[in-house]
Amino acid sequence: MDRLRIAGGAALDGEIPIGGAKNAALPLMAASLLTAEPLELTNVPRLRDIATLIRVLEQHGVEVESGAGTLRLTAADIPNTMAPYDLVRQMRASVLVLGPLVARFGNAAVSLPGGCAIGSRPIDLHLMALEQLGAEISLGRGYIHAEAPPGGLVGNRIIFPKVSVGASENAIMAAALARGTTAIENAALEPEVADLAHCLNAMGARIEGIGSERLVIEGVDELHGAQHRVVADRIEAGTYAMAAAITGGSVTLQNVGEDLFGAAAAALREAGVALEPNGAGIRVSCADGDLTGVDVITDPFPGFPTDLQAQFMALMSKAGGASMITETIFENRYMHVPELKRMGANVNLHGASAMVRGVEKLYGAEVMATDLRASSSLVIAALAAEGETTINRVYHLDRGYERLVEKLTGCGARVERIAGS
Ligand code: UD1
Repeated sequence: MDRLRIAGGAALDGEIPIGGAKNAALPLMAASLLTAEPLELTNVPRLRDIATLIRVLEQHGVEVESGAGTLRLTAADIPNTMAPYDLVRQMRASVLVLGPLVARFGNAAVSLPGGCAIGSRPIDLHLMALEQLGAEISLGRGYIHAEAPPGGLVGNRIIFPKVSVGASENAIMAAALARGTTAIENAALEPEVADLAHCLNAMGARIEGIGSERLVIEGVDELHGAQHRVVADRIEAGTYAMAAAITGGSVTLQNVGEDLFGAAAAALREAGVALEPNGAGIRVSCADGDLTGVDVITDPFPGFPTDLQAQFMALMSKAGGASMITETIFENRYMHVPELKRMGANVNLHGASAMVRGVEKLYGAEVMATDLRASSSLVIAALAAEGETTINRVYHLDRGYERLVEKLTGCGARVERIAGS
């Protein structure tokens, strides 16, 4: 297994191109199942999760042509509406094929995703939404079976008791082809959900209220092909912003606007990080790495994203004073804590909250990546640590960060990837 070796202490200086969002690209790819015509996506990041969903789509029968940052997906002939365990267990987001398949073909079988490293992560809200549209759901032999009524799904009112990104996306895709009108209440506000809705409208869907928590969708008989550029990855951008800040560096994050940052921008500013939008993107700097402890609570967008919680903890571990970080979205999302402590961070966990008391210095150590965002928090800590850090199990980073080593070394960081045996 590959490892990363990072020699800490270099202030990042330069420009980092921010890619398309993984979490937008995945539902957009699933949306290709809604039409027989090609869906062309640009600004698609080259990541392991994208490759996994390509495999899921291909086994359904989708024709996939990929180029540099582009995907052309044609779901003209779909002989198989079953997504197997072997692929779904590798990536839970595979469940996003459920809504499109049942909406267009009337049935789907998707493996239950199985355990997940960051909590139990149920899919009851996805299923509730499809049931509201008339689908009959049954569970058997580890699979979810969804069956539309004979005339297809029927528009209805879907009220989410809790905000869910994936369930909102599944509901929107299914409602796009349902008969009649669907109103979705308490839909997720994440920019990736809006990106999906815009793409669906370009494909002929009739979705109103995009970007708000109430979406009204007038179902259409069929959708057509379209071209769509994937929105920028706000989590990748936030991660590099924190990497620049902890090293006392100055980096321009290209192709990204501050509107995507939500509460993360306010938290960074409060911590002493300057964010200045310019023509190319956002310039992030932190003079002398002088940081102040800030409390954050993760929340659905525009709240502070859970996907930046681990990275923010790494940043706070070197801030002056204390920071209380509270995770409200996922249970068990503190696996980075023991590893950060091995690098000298002072963190105490109290249930869903972590008290981080800033330390003068972090120290390089041998650490283990346990999930995607935990891994990036270790990279951030390592960039500011004294001495050398080795991060094992780098494959987690490959799920969400394209060309991480190149992007960091391009700004002066001393990072190398060591091929494992
Ligand atoms: C998406 C993101 C993930 C991010 C998360 C929260 C993708 C591919 N992944 O995941 O990176 O961390 O949003 O911003 O976009 N829940 C239920 N029942 C359900 C579905 C969810 O109880 O049917 C709960 C979850 O356990 C969690 C909360 O709702 O506590 C939010 O999860 P959700 O927004 O659905 O996350 P994902 O779409 O899986």
